[in-house]
Amino acid sequence: MKHFLSLQDIPDFDTAILEAIALKKDPLSDKKLGRDKTLGLLFFNASLRTRISTQKAAKNLGLEVIVMNFSQEGWQLEYEDGAVMNSGKAEHIKEAAGVLSGYCDLIGVRAFAELQSCEEDQKEKVLLGFAKHASVPIINLESALDHPLQGFADAITITEELGEQVLPSLKKEGTAPKVVLSWAPHPRALPHAVANSFIAAMKRLHIDFSITHPKGYELDPLITGNAPIEYDQDKALAGAAVVYVKNWSSFKDYGKVMCEDPSWTITSEKIGNAQCMHCLPVRRNVVIADAVLDSDKSLVLAQANNRTYAAQWVLKELLKTTP
Ligand code: CP
Repeated sequence: MKHFLSLQDIPDFDTAILEAIALKKDPLSDKKLGRDKTLGLLFFNASLRTRISTQKAAKNLGLEVIVMNFSQEGWQLEYEDGAVMNSGKAEHIKEAAGVLSGYCDLIGVRAFAELQSCEEDQKEKVLLGFAKHASVPIINLESALDHPLQGFADAITITEELGEQVLPSLKKEGTAPKVVLSWAPHPRALPHAVANSFIAAMKRLHIDFSITHPKGYELDPLITGNAPIEYDQDKALAGAAVVYVKNWSSFKDYGKVMCEDPSWTITSEKIGNAQCMHCLPVRRNVVIADAVLDSDKSLVLAQANNRTYAAQWVLKELLKTTP
C-alpha cells in the first residue's frame, strides 16, 4: 500500500477485517514495528475519535506522534500550480508537504468538504495535494468525499455483530442479513464522506444492502451505483438486522439542507429488533432518540472502539513498506 486514501487501497477486504479483529486480542504484538518512526497528524477540522484512535493505534505500534491543528496553527496554504502568491496564502502545498515529509515517516490528513461547490470538493485538493507532493505515505483521516477509516471500522463492527459469513470468502448458504443506511435529520449541512465510505464498505460484504432517504437526498450515483433506494423509511427498515444512521446534505442541490422532517429521527419503534450504528458525534433526539442510544441496540461505542484497530491495521500495512 503506497497511500491510504480510500477503501480501494485495501485489496483484500475480508483478510483486512479478520486481521483487524485479531489485532484487538493482541494490540501490542507489533510494538517494535514503528520504533524510531514518526506519524504526523494534520487536522484542518475538528475531531475526537479520529484524532485519539489514530494516536492510540500509532502508540500500539511504537510510533511517535505529532499532531497539528493546521487550520488554526499552520500557514494558509495555496494549492494552485503557478499561483502568484500575493494574497493571504503564505505557503504552497509543495513546500508544506515536502517539509513535513522530512519530519514524518507517515502523514494523516483531515480536510472536510467545504460544501460550496461540488466541483471544488471533488478535486480533493488538500488530500490529493499532500499525496502528490509528499514523499511519504498519506492517510485519509476524512476528506471531502471519503472517510475510509470510518468505513473500515464500520465493516469490522458489522462482521463482529452479524458473523464472519458477511465476508464474501466465508459466506454460507441462505439469506444475507439486511443492512440499511438511513438518512436522519440534522440542523446543519453535513458532508457526504461517511455515507460514501459506508456504501463502499457495504458493497464489499455479503449482505442485503439498501439506502433510505427523503426524495432530493440522493447521493452521488457514481457511489450508490445499483444499491436499492427506498423513500419510505418504515418500509426500508422492516426486517433490518443493522440500521446505519447518518445525515448528509443534498448532493443534487449541492450542500443544501432540504428537509429537517423529525419523522425521520430514529426511534425505538423504528429500530425494532435491529442494531443501530452511527459514526458519532450524534445529536441526540434529532438524529437518534435517547431510548435507542442508551439501549443495548446501540453499537456506537463498539464502532468508535474499532476505529483504533482499523487505523492500526492501516498504519501497520504502510509501515511494512516504509524504509
Ligand atoms: N467519526 C469520526 O470521525 O469522529 P471525529 O469527527 O470525532 O473524528
